[in-house]
Amino acid sequence: MSDIEFNSALITGGAGFIGSHLADKLVNEGIETKVLDNFATGRKDNLLGCMDKQNFSLFDLDLGKLGNQEDYLENVEVVFHMAADPEVRTGYDNPKSSFEQNIVNTFNLLQRIKHSKVKKIVFASSSSVYGDAKILPTNEEYGPLCPISHYGASKLACEAIVSSFCYNYDIDGIILRPANVIGSRGRHGLIWDLVHKLKNDKNRLEVLGDGKQTKSFIHISDMIKGILQSMKKGEDGVEIFNVGSEDGVEIINVAKIVCKNMKLPNIEIFTTGGIENGRGWKGDIKIAHLDISKLKNLGWQPKLSSLEAADVTSQEIIAEVI
Ligand SMILES: NC(=O)c1ccc[n+]([C@@H]2O[C@H](COP(=O)([O-])OP(=O)(O)OC[C@H]3O[C@@H](n4cnc5c(N)ncnc54)[C@H](O)[C@@H]3O)[C@@H](O)[C@H]2O)c1
Repeated sequence: MSDIEFNSALITGGAGFIGSHLADKLVNEGIETKVLDNFATGRKDNLLGCMDKQNFSLFDLDLGKLGNQEDYLENVEVVFHMAADPEVRTGYDNPKSSFEQNIVNTFNLLQRIKHSKVKKIVFASSSSVYGDAKILPTNEEYGPLCPISHYGASKLACEAIVSSFCYNYDIDGIILRPANVIGSRGRHGLIWDLVHKLKNDKNRLEVLGDGKQTKSFIHISDMIKGILQSMKKGEDGVEIFNVGSEDGVEIINVAKIVCKNMKLPNIEIFTTGGIENGRGWKGDIKIAHLDISKLKNLGWQPKLSSLEAADVTSQEIIAEVI
């Protein structure tokens, strides 16, 4: 039996990777579910399981161009704000996108929410707000927060804006700081890049950086459970939760898993060496490891380790695109 304690929700960015998995879950649980998306990176295909359901509706809207029409907020109890430009790497050349798509659009959305009947907002921030954290594993109390990517900076700014709107307009707030979320429908990030490189060149695989960047990966199935579990926090104002797996994995080992699943076990894997002691690019966090005990204390536990998540995901992505 479902233990979801709300009846209606809006998911911004609900046609994207994380948002569409969340939409599947909510629709199947009988929640009145609305998705708002401009299909910048999202795809209607991701919502095939929802489209014909009576408790689902889709709003093809851009958060940057919201007009007076506000049906998407009508009778909505909870807003899951997932829409964003999720690219970390491209932010170096295009910081404006992180600023406009993430900060300005979050503000635009909150301006609409403030006079609505929405009771709760769940915001997809990112563990990139920690930058090069000096304490590992890093918990939610860590500071000062000094992001090293424009993306991370934009998410930190959004956290602040969500916090002030929640306080001023009596909205309950949950801020999630996920690690690298991976799984079917994912269309950016390491595994997606590696599969595409292997599709184009079956002899050599380039890995950005020195390959020793250590990251935490969380499978989408654990992520969706984590999102819903975070809502058990009680009603004590805005709370922040890390969402990741217990461990980390060197990305060279992720590359090896992807090669194995592509049936290319003997391929030559080479690293670019990267910059600044092996980062893949400016703004790439070399070692990230989240302390996830706060969310675990609410009763959540990720099932897959980072490496297991990478194994499952590479099989899923290969099945989707090869
Ligand atoms: N995937 C990860 O590893 C990860 C990790 C930490 C945080 N996040 C955050 O989680 C959220 C979802 O990420 P994702 O990986 O599913 O990315 P995604 O690109 O698959 O999904 C983002 C969705 O937002 C939509 N969108 C973008 N701009 C919009 C706008 N102006 N108006 C309406 N819709 C818009 C896109 O079309 C897309 O459907 C993002 O906020 C991202 O920053 C993701």
